Amino acid sequence: MSRAEIRQIVVLLSGRGSNYRALRQAQTDGRLDGDITAVISDQTDAIGLKLARQDDIEAICVPRDRFNDRAAFEQALAKTIAESRAHWIVLAGFMRVLSAKFVEAHAGRILNIHPSLLPRHRGLHTHQRVLDAGETEHGASVHFVTAKLDGGPVISQVRLAVEPGDTAETLAERLLPLEHRLFPATMALLQRYPVEARNESITIEGKPQVAPLVLGTDFADDGRLLGHGRAN
Ligand code: GRF
Repeated sequence: MSRAEIRQIVVLLSGRGSNYRALRQAQTDGRLDGDITAVISDQTDAIGLKLARQDDIEAICVPRDRFNDRAAFEQALAKTIAESRAHWIVLAGFMRVLSAKFVEAHAGRILNIHPSLLPRHRGLHTHQRVLDAGETEHGASVHFVTAKLDGGPVISQVRLAVEPGDTAETLAERLLPLEHRLFPATMALLQRYPVEARNESITIEGKPQVAPLVLGTDFADDGRLLGHGRAN
């Protein structure tokens, strides 16, 4: 891939920033092309901002409480994102619901990681909800963001077996390292192939996918599609 084709990434986060850390690590390891041009947070004290500063990445706070309403906040956020000159807008623990207007203005460029096998368990407390539902499988998903909360087309997933005796805490603990593989791998996939949202699902190189790509089965940590992961 030529340098000109590489699409830069801006990360939005509200908290501890471990997914940001994983994306950054993938770049320094050479698994993921492109730079993280900035990290933006709505929270002044987000640990993720500190991590970015340690990495010499521009760390910018757009504090939600400084704005009278969501429209004013989103306007400032959009300006900061535009100034970062990034193509991909990656939500890594960004705890704000974005308006339809904002999402539509950045359509096809915003990605989110969610700790469940979407479309199951949109919203919060996913680990406990998996246990309450008696499910045997849990996981995480990366999806295009649309106006519907955790509802956009799912690109990729990673799966995890629920073991007897699991609690919300043990599930969270086992899932997080898998999230740290899934997000960089998915961003690497997006750098390698044209992936687009179409209706409720995605296309790769223009070919519709019937199901989300599973990490390790359909695509690898460096984003490369594996044999049968290719659409046909
Ligand atoms: C992750 O569990 C992610 O799936 C969810 O928010 C959490 C962010 O964690 N959207 P971190 O800030 O990246 O450590």
